[in-house]
Amino acid sequence: MMNKFEKKICCIGAGYVGGPTMSVIASNCPELRVDVVDINKERIDAWNSDDYSKLPVFEPGLENIVRKCRDTNLFFSNKVEECISQADIIFISVNTPTKTNGLGAGFASDLKWIESSARQIAKYARNHTVVVEKSTLPVKTAETIKTILNSSLDIDPSSEEKKTFSIVSNPEFLAEGTAINDLQNPDRVLIGGEDDYSINLISDIYKKWIDPEKIITTNLWSSELSKLVSNAFLAQRISSINSISALCEATGANIMEVVGAIGTDTRIGKKFLMPGPGFGGSCFKKDILNLVYLCRYYGLNEVADYWEQVVKINYWQQKRISALVIKNLFGTLSNKKLTIYGFAFKANTNDTRESPSINISKYLLQEGSKLNFYDPKVNQKQIFNELDVNEEDGNVLVYEDPYKAVEGADAVLILTEWNEFKFFNWEAIYKVMRKPSWIFDSRISLDQNHLKKIGFKVWTLGTE
Ligand code: UDX
Ligand code: UDX
Repeated sequence: MMNKFEKKICCIGAGYVGGPTMSVIASNCPELRVDVVDINKERIDAWNSDDYSKLPVFEPGLENIVRKCRDTNLFFSNKVEECISQADIIFISVNTPTKTNGLGAGFASDLKWIESSARQIAKYARNHTVVVEKSTLPVKTAETIKTILNSSLDIDPSSEEKKTFSIVSNPEFLAEGTAINDLQNPDRVLIGGEDDYSINLISDIYKKWIDPEKIITTNLWSSELSKLVSNAFLAQRISSINSISALCEATGANIMEVVGAIGTDTRIGKKFLMPGPGFGGSCFKKDILNLVYLCRYYGLNEVADYWEQVVKINYWQQKRISALVIKNLFGTLSNKKLTIYGFAFKANTNDTRESPSINISKYLLQEGSKLNFYDPKVNQKQIFNELDVNEEDGNVLVYEDPYKAVEGADAVLILTEWNEFKFFNWEAIYKVMRKPSWIFDSRISLDQNHLKKIGFKVWTLGTE
């Protein structure tokens, strides 16, 4: 059965990146067999669920692709060793969190999962295998992977067959919520490698649906570095505009007018200029900290400080917003109830990793506030986990009904730009809140004038 396919791909890691990426490859390349493997059994069961609403990753368009390809040329399983041994191409798509202790703690990526994946590949792979780095990694990680793979050649001299490996870096640029479209119509695909055979092998996969002009090939290190730098530049734009939001508040300029004015300069461009409570998500902070670590490692301290400032401004923005809330509520939050609308790190996702809502909520809790939460896609368990609280605590309540969540509240904070918030019945909300009733709109998503007419006191980011 397995032989009907021209080539076999194995992807280690069935997460946010591995799952959607492999689904799109399988859908565009019916001649390839794609096995996505993961050590987490629960996750694999969810990918194999008959109920497609239970897929572990929610992305518009993903369900249709999985329906079409699963068990045809796309397979999800825990058979890590078996799939490695049969694969011609292995994508490594495991997670690489920031180290929490030891050398480089707080900055460097923890590569333990990459290392264990490389060791498994070294042991079970057969013949020639092209190993593709899909996870975002510190520059020169390919070197580590190569050392591990090649050392397996020394361990096993008795083996009849000759194992060989080549390494390719093929970073992902997909954003959550638009992952399938980003994979289907990318701005570019980046492939870094050392030998033409492997670069062409991976390019040929993408050429099945992507214009060859969009496929950029580089050396390994340029590819690894470009991924970190792309994310650092994107995050830098957010910190830049957020820093200016504070200046607008101080001077009477309006941040959205400034955004409109600068964004029309085609050299600056309109995208990624939306001010807010700061960037979240699994990548930006981690990747910048990696870049900072790398610069310090090479003695480039000024460069490291420059990029670290992007992360510092991001924290500062969250602290600043919390302080403003406290100041406007007469300097104290004890015995006050605040309602937070939005816990996801951005709209249209249930992901809460590094969400600005986490820090802002923690600051407010430290000031003695009681917090009520409503997010259309994030449940109580996830919010409790992120805030490290439990039911007995009593200061944090999570509601499924946004109108219940505001009863008796002194203020509403908009922390995620969910579209539905715009269409809430704000008159009804005003009626059930304690007076004076405040709205703090950190996403600039509500109509300030309308809210003021109802009677609310309104603070909107980046306006006086
Ligand atoms: C990805 C990238 O891999 C990371 O480098 C990037 O910067 C962020 O996105 P992501 O797909 O979001 O990670 O991570 P996650 O959803 O946690 O998925 C990783 C999967 O790998 C998990 O399901 C985990 O169980 C699996 N895994 C981890 C293995 O199968 N084997 C391991 O040895 C380690
Ligand atoms: C990002 C990158 O876009 C993607 O290329 C990379 O592969 C992974 O990291 P993601 O984290 O899914 O993707 O989300 P993104 O849409 O980039 O938003 C990141 C954060 O920045 C969110 O918290 C968002 O609210 C914030 N943001 C984004 C702004 O505050 N303003 C903007 O203008 C854009």
